[in-house]
Parts: sequence; C-alpha cells; structure tokens
Amino acid sequence: MTLFVNGSPVPLPDDPRVSLLDLLRERLHLSGTKKGCNQGACGACTVLVDGERILSCLALAVQYAGRSVTTIEGLTEGEALHPLQAAFVAHDAFQCGYCTPGQICSAIGMVAELRRGSPSNVTQSLTAPAGLTRDELRERMSGNLCRCGAHNGIVDAILDVYGEVAA
Ligand code: FES
Ligand code: FES
Repeated sequence: MTLFVNGSPVPLPDDPRVSLLDLLRERLHLSGTKKGCNQGACGACTVLVDGERILSCLALAVQYAGRSVTTIEGLTEGEALHPLQAAFVAHDAFQCGYCTPGQICSAIGMVAELRRGSPSNVTQSLTAPAGLTRDELRERMSGNLCRCGAHNGIVDAILDVYGEVAA
C-alpha cells in the first residue's frame, strides 16, 4: 500500500503507529513540515490531504493509503515560489519561520473551505457565503500559532493573495 506525497508514491510504514508527521520528517526527510507541540495545539505540522488541511501530528500515516499529501515542498513550481510564499516574503510575515510552512498550507486549505461555503465560528449567516474579512481570516487561522508574533504580516499576506474571496 502506498500514499502519494507531492505527487510521488511512497510506501506506507510497516509500523502502524508512525504518524504522518514522522513519516514526512524522519523517513522522507521532508523537514519543511514542522513538529511543534506534537499534540494538535500549534498548527506547525499542517499539510494538505486531497486539498484539505490536516494536522499531521495527529494523523497515522496508514490512514492515508491512496491519498495525496501536499507539503510545503510540493507547493513550488520548480524554482518559482507559490504566490502565497512570495506574499509572506513581501509582507514580512515571519521571523524565525518555524510556523510558516504550517501557516501557508493552512491558509490554502482555509481558502478552499471558504470557497465551498463552510462557516466558521464568526460567520454571521449559515446561508449567505462568508467573505475573507479580517475577522473571518483570523478565526479560521486561529489554529496556527506564531510565537514570534508575525500574525499581522501573515494576515496581510493571505489577504494580498486571496482577498478576492469576497462575500
Ligand atoms: Fe501538530 Fe503542533 S505539531 S499541532
Ligand atoms: Fe517564528 Fe512564526 S515566525 S513562530
């Protein structure tokens, strides 16, 4: 059985206890995905699975047989940064950078959730689509912590790229 990581097939680990995060970091050496709390509280380990954001520290690799995992390494097109990566640079949206891969993967998954009409805790109407307001953005990204306090730049970078997702 395999899963796919950034488009390439990867054999599942023999040990069913291996988390997706440890598979990525320790076995595939994709160290862009970070281990912060390792218990689902910080968002540093966020990756995309079939376009949805998940916390890879809380996921067992064997759960994802046949699924497509995208990490921060899989977002670039050759040498070209993903537009959101470039916006993080332009808006000074990081200091140490430890939270950044998780922030970027999470934002991409967050925008997909918004586009398909998933409400957040601050969405006013369950029938009218929510736009990407600052309040919506901050609420929807609240699972990704930045201990350097770069949140203002992070919000600006996400709005720069996805601000067209309006109500
Ligand atoms: Fe997964 Fe913190 S390392 S949420
Ligand atoms: Fe350092 Fe976010 S840039 S934790």
